[in-house]
Amino acid sequence: MSLKLNHPVAFVPTMGALHAGHQSLIEIAKSLENEVVVSVFVNPLQFENPDDFLSYPKTLEKDIAIAEASGATFVWSPTFEEIYPGNPELVSAGVIGNLFEGVHRFGHFDGVLTVVKRLFDLVEPKYAIFGEKDFQQLFLIKEMVNRLKLPITVISAPTIREASGLAMSSRNVRLSVSDRSTAAGIYSSLLAATSENEIGRARQVLAKGINSIPGFITDYVEIIDEENFEVASENTANPRAIVAGWINGVRLIDNMVMKKVVASK
Ligand code: PAF
Repeated sequence: MSLKLNHPVAFVPTMGALHAGHQSLIEIAKSLENEVVVSVFVNPLQFENPDDFLSYPKTLEKDIAIAEASGATFVWSPTFEEIYPGNPELVSAGVIGNLFEGVHRFGHFDGVLTVVKRLFDLVEPKYAIFGEKDFQQLFLIKEMVNRLKLPITVISAPTIREASGLAMSSRNVRLSVSDRSTAAGIYSSLLAATSENEIGRARQVLAKGINSIPGFITDYVEIIDEENFEVASENTANPRAIVAGWINGVRLIDNMVMKKVVASK
């Protein structure tokens, strides 16, 4: 299939259920190019749990309205057959794809990279914009673009938060009002850790905060080197805290840049 687009294109791939976080990605795309393509495709290959795939929120009409109001010139909701005619050529996310998110969502990033590569082949964007909220995803997409030498500039966009600090996510619609206020504890724990300038202390403060969120079931909480996803040490130049877990059956992830580490004396 071929899409009739006015190149150069700025591209925002999504799985729909658009919210203010996506709007900010589309607005960034619009500041880069006039032709802004937004795809809406819930990619079965990246769901390790079939129920999660089936219950993923689907709000296409609303999505089209939000995307257009934010500057999209082409909203594209392809079918499974359009994306995967025949057997999909799987793209491996490698070793880093099996860490953190990858431990809890086995094969997830292979599915993400497979669909993103396929979308890139069809849209041929100059720019592609992804949110920092899914930091490991962003890292792996940048790594794939470099590895395959794709002529695409990947732009990372800051996490957009609700007033409480909770990172915007399509899954937030499944949280009750009280779950939402509990979930804001993820943000306040991350924030508390940023005021520590010693890595061990930052890790302690973060873990204590996360483990005291009522009803939060932690998948992982760690401070990593954002250049390679290794566990951060006092020599790490770019530490970033990453957190994932569950509140009442809803999976939430978040991350935050930590202070440049000062070695303990
Ligand atoms: O972040 C998402 O919404 C999805 O993982 C993406 C990048 C659109 C691929 O399906």
